[in-house]
Amino acid sequence: MNSHAEATERVRPPVTLPRFGERLHDERSAALVGMALGAMFSICLATGVLSHLIQHPPGWFTWPARPAGFYRVSQGVHVTTGIALIPVVLAKLWIVYPKLFRWPPIDDVADAVERLTLLPLVGGMIFLLFSGTANVALWYPWEFSFPVAHYWATWITVGAMVAHVSAKATIIGRTVRRRQATPEATPTTTTTTTADRRSFLGAVAAASGTLAVATVGQTFRPLAAISVLGPRDPRVNVQGVPVNKAVGESSGLAEAVASPSYRLVVRGRVDQELSFSREDLLAMPQHTARLPIACVEGWSAEADWTGVRVRDLLAMAGARAGAEVGVESLQQRGSFRASVLNSKHAADRDTLLALKINGEDLHPDHGFPVRLIGPNRPGVQQTKWVAELVVR
Ligand code: HEM
Repeated sequence: MNSHAEATERVRPPVTLPRFGERLHDERSAALVGMALGAMFSICLATGVLSHLIQHPPGWFTWPARPAGFYRVSQGVHVTTGIALIPVVLAKLWIVYPKLFRWPPIDDVADAVERLTLLPLVGGMIFLLFSGTANVALWYPWEFSFPVAHYWATWITVGAMVAHVSAKATIIGRTVRRRQATPEATPTTTTTTTADRRSFLGAVAAASGTLAVATVGQTFRPLAAISVLGPRDPRVNVQGVPVNKAVGESSGLAEAVASPSYRLVVRGRVDQELSFSREDLLAMPQHTARLPIACVEGWSAEADWTGVRVRDLLAMAGARAGAEVGVESLQQRGSFRASVLNSKHAADRDTLLALKINGEDLHPDHGFPVRLIGPNRPGVQQTKWVAELVVR
């Protein structure tokens, strides 16, 4: 080796190839994934709270009957976005996990408080994703009520997230403003880090998108064949529409729906109580509406429903304009044996006591002899096997 080569050898810096990933446990990656997570979480929050308000309306909230398919979209978006969140949350946890093991674990009191909020934040988020996904997969490995636990976990997570985002506001602001990876990075490491980060974020986005596409087919039929993760296959159905609760699941119900003594009764705050057999209802003016069953679990399916308008029955009974109506099922027990039609839903032209689906008599699993169907309502409020309308 000549002397020039020796000099070059002496000054060449040691070559260290950072492993893919090490460079990505940084604040910019954390902030970018965090912002995507925050946006998706906000969509889940808005659509979830809406679903809660529709099912448990406070005095100031009246859910409109139009547009007819709004709930179908909002709850479909809730479940699909929630499932698509899973890789984003995992990516975020992977980026920041070295920070959880740093030493010393806390710097001062403010730092201790901030780190404590991570417990409800991470715990709440994992609980929401797990409970939601298990629920739509009809797997209930718990004793508690899913909607109640899911609802309160939401507010715990929201509180922790507000605290977390406030604590990280400076970093998030810096990330939004700056394109540099880290202040101390050299141009070379910045370029490689940016390329690595792009690949990583691209992989997370692809995983998230794949989960979404693999789920939406439970509603969007053209994608049904590739939606392997959608717990509900719309092609498995009775009379064109999937069934969540079959008549055989409630004791004594199959006999009650087949009984010749079946009557639909209209009572409560009316001038005249009314009672109809199914044949009486079939002899009345019939109306057909194309409406979806939009399940709280995110799937939905449209059908042509034919039957008697609820508002026609209310007018016959002499109910006052703007009345609300309780709809009671033949079921003796069960959380969804009754529902309420607010004034807008009760008066809507397409709110029906349906007798037929897609031109055929209702199958008992779809609510024979009579079921409620109305626009823009969660499936759990489309009461099957209707026995009574109680005007309020
Ligand atoms: C991660 C963020 C999430 C938030 C903030 C959130 C929030 C909510 C809220 C507030 C409700 C209303 C509960 C009630 O009616 O009292 C709800 C309902 C629901 N969520 Fe989520 N959720 C999230 C993720 C998920 C995921 C990942 C899934 C499923 C994959 C899911 C599935 C459901 C279902 C099926 C309901 C309807 C429950 C019912 O009415 O029976 N959620 N969600």
